[in-house]
Amino acid sequence: MNKYGKDFISNFYALIKSTFVYDFNNDVVINLVNKFFSHIKTLFQTCNQIEILRYRDYIFFNKVRMRFEVEGYASLQFIEENLKRLGIKSIVFLPGMKASEILKFASLFKLNREGFISEYNRIGFQTIVVEFYTGEDETVPEFLKDGEQIKKTYFKALKVTKNLVHNLWKRQPVDTRSFRRIIYTLIDSLSQDEFGLIALTTIKNFDEYTYNHSLNVGILSLAVGQRLDLERSNLVKLGTAGLLHDIGKVAISKSLIDKSQQLTEEEWKIMKKHSIYGVSEIIKTRGLDDISFAALLAAYEHHWNYDGSGYPERPDQKIQPNLFARIIRICDTYDAMTTSRPYQILPYLPAIAIRVIWSRTRTYFDPILTKIFIQMLGLYPVSSCIELDNGEIAVVIRQNPTHIDRPFIKIVMDKSKKKIDGPVIDLSMERKINIIRAIYPQKYDINPAQYLI
Ligand SMILES: [Fe+2]
Ligand SMILES: [Fe+2]
Repeated sequence: MNKYGKDFISNFYALIKSTFVYDFNNDVVINLVNKFFSHIKTLFQTCNQIEILRYRDYIFFNKVRMRFEVEGYASLQFIEENLKRLGIKSIVFLPGMKASEILKFASLFKLNREGFISEYNRIGFQTIVVEFYTGEDETVPEFLKDGEQIKKTYFKALKVTKNLVHNLWKRQPVDTRSFRRIIYTLIDSLSQDEFGLIALTTIKNFDEYTYNHSLNVGILSLAVGQRLDLERSNLVKLGTAGLLHDIGKVAISKSLIDKSQQLTEEEWKIMKKHSIYGVSEIIKTRGLDDISFAALLAAYEHHWNYDGSGYPERPDQKIQPNLFARIIRICDTYDAMTTSRPYQILPYLPAIAIRVIWSRTRTYFDPILTKIFIQMLGLYPVSSCIELDNGEIAVVIRQNPTHIDRPFIKIVMDKSKKKIDGPVIDLSMERKINIIRAIYPQKYDINPAQYLI
């Protein structure tokens, strides 16, 4: 689509420019109109309309954001600047457009905003529809709203987590107020778009495992808590506990944390102490209130297993970890398994991690919480790359709350394994297509994140 968009923008740009200099019946203009029309004809074979939309400094061609690249830079910049100058939000071109209409329209671009609006209204175009921004503040287009907001929240939360861990590591004061605020924001975002935020936890191409992992465990734990209908005050405690579960690692030498080889027995002993160190780090960071207490208890118990095993050793193996620690135990294991780390270059496929977690119910994990977790992520979690029984390859883009084995997928490769911009299919409705297996996206050079954000 980007290629079509680029060609469209450059043809439109050339046409506008030509109307600035030549008369309508000049050969240059006629040639450009012909070129524009032959291109648009092919576009209308596959879409009902063509839309150029501007939001801030971005141009979207049929809802796909155009990237500024060396080739086509001048035309994209020209269109962006002029739409901005004229206060235009979007231009929609409809089938049936005539050469005289597009010529008149292109020539309006030499006017100022007032002139443009009054001429546009006077002429009354039938097949070109312009929408203007009103007022200073540009409203976020509907299709961008959720995704943009949720991404902003995720990256803000990542920054706050990073600052907190970094400052603790350096023994510098921490900003607990922005930390508390981000927990509230995460809770609100989850209640608005649970799947959108969970989808972001699956994008693992960040170098910084510690921050990313802490945030992902926080988000996944909150999502489980929400499904348990916990009160908001408890969600605040759970979110804080999830984000801080591994905070004790700041008391362990960084060279050990970052070590790329298998740890020795002695090193494991030190590493396992992070659960205990977590208690003092949380008190140091937040003082001792209700929220801290819940978080330090969860940090202490988050490696306790359901069957009494795990660390640190407990006085009586019958003592069960508290609810928050049991939730974090599952989310922590899942996120760690599915992320590549220095000593786990090839992570588990999300679908395999789900099966491993299921196989360890009652030994490691609380059975009811495991069911809720799997119900939430599905058997093929969002971002999974899957092979279908018709030979096509797809990416899971959304869970189906009522069918954990039949999610919404987007076809990204055809039967001959050629990359395509295929349709989105709800597998719960399309019973003739079945998933054969989950596969590593690297096998076909697929980047699932591209289809999620
Ligand atoms: Fe841990
Ligand atoms: Fe962890």
